[in-house]
Amino acid sequence: MSMLSFEINGEKVDVTSEARTSLADLLRDEIGLTGTHLGCEQGVCGACTVLVDGVPVRSCISNAASCQGSEIRTIEGFDDDPVMVELRAAFNRHHALQCGFCTPGMLVMARDIVTRLGDVDEERIRVELAGNLCRCTGYAGIVKAIRAVIVERLERGIANDVPAIESLGPAGSGHAAPSGSFGGPAAAAEGVARETQRRLKAPTGLGDADRAPAVTQKVTIAAAPDAVWARFGDVSRTIRCIPGATLVSEQDGLYEVRMRIRMGPVGADFSGVAAQRRDEATKSGVITGEGRDTKSASLARGELGYRISGPMEGPTEVDIRIDYVLSGALGQFARSGIVTHFIAEITRQFAANLERSLAGDDAPADDELRITGSLGAAFKAWIGAAARRLLGR
Ligand code: FES
Ligand code: FES
Repeated sequence: MSMLSFEINGEKVDVTSEARTSLADLLRDEIGLTGTHLGCEQGVCGACTVLVDGVPVRSCISNAASCQGSEIRTIEGFDDDPVMVELRAAFNRHHALQCGFCTPGMLVMARDIVTRLGDVDEERIRVELAGNLCRCTGYAGIVKAIRAVIVERLERGIANDVPAIESLGPAGSGHAAPSGSFGGPAAAAEGVARETQRRLKAPTGLGDADRAPAVTQKVTIAAAPDAVWARFGDVSRTIRCIPGATLVSEQDGLYEVRMRIRMGPVGADFSGVAAQRRDEATKSGVITGEGRDTKSASLARGELGYRISGPMEGPTEVDIRIDYVLSGALGQFARSGIVTHFIAEITRQFAANLERSLAGDDAPADDELRITGSLGAAFKAWIGAAARRLLGR
């Protein structure tokens, strides 16, 4: 038996498991999430489909231990999900279920199609659904329901914005061995670059209206909005203002960035790729990035949306919204709440550096972000509490 930890439907779960237990059995028998159905138990029917780190996987042929540390979302975790609400209604309207046995897996897959692919026709929907079998409906209603949701979302101007993961790791998670410019074969790095490019095609804005902001900040910069807007467009110079960040290379609008952080005894060294899309009319933009810390096998993925406003001669108000996913060993840190203060501290330092740079001092920010002061003390206290929890005292 071994102790495994997951985040299941937003809750941290620690559970003991036999080495050969499948993820489906663990979810159903140990955790009681019986909405995940078992049909063939050999990876054919798709009834057991769940999301592992945002990627649909067959839980019947996924070893539970290989998903250690993952974020898992089962059908029970989609109660309030806006896309799922629309899909459930559409499945009802279009008579997309009869016995309902295939429906949990079908809905999980349908949501992935809607959010990942956006405007796809019925033929493509059928191809994407090829791994989900239904013995009752003949598929026509299911395909129509999914297409209806896609059309409704397009009419409301909602774009697909769930990042597709092209380099699948164990159980399709982001926990694969670090690779490419992050430490292994170049192919995986190209996958990240392709994905970032794909996201560049998404419409500009501060993100999909369905997504709740993880962290929002407002900073004031003592400079004219036009100057701040122009500087945000100069990504290589903007990156120099981010504490701990270094621009490694730039090609075709993709920026390879390294980010070093030290919080007391804990250090992280993320390498990844970022890209930006902007909208001149609304003076807003989105910077999308993804990186890995090879030491802790942690993955950080995020979007920074910004909107610039203020009187012509300044000062400039910058509204910032950050959506992020932090998984792997540092995922614990994201759930502690300290990350909110951490982002606030980075933003504060970034705004100060940007102000200094716009005033003519273009020296790069420190190449390592050191968290000290009250946040450092809070982090130290968090580590102590985590250690006490671990030791049961
Ligand atoms: S039960 Fe998992 S694919 Fe059929
Ligand atoms: S509704 Fe019965 S298997 Fe699909």
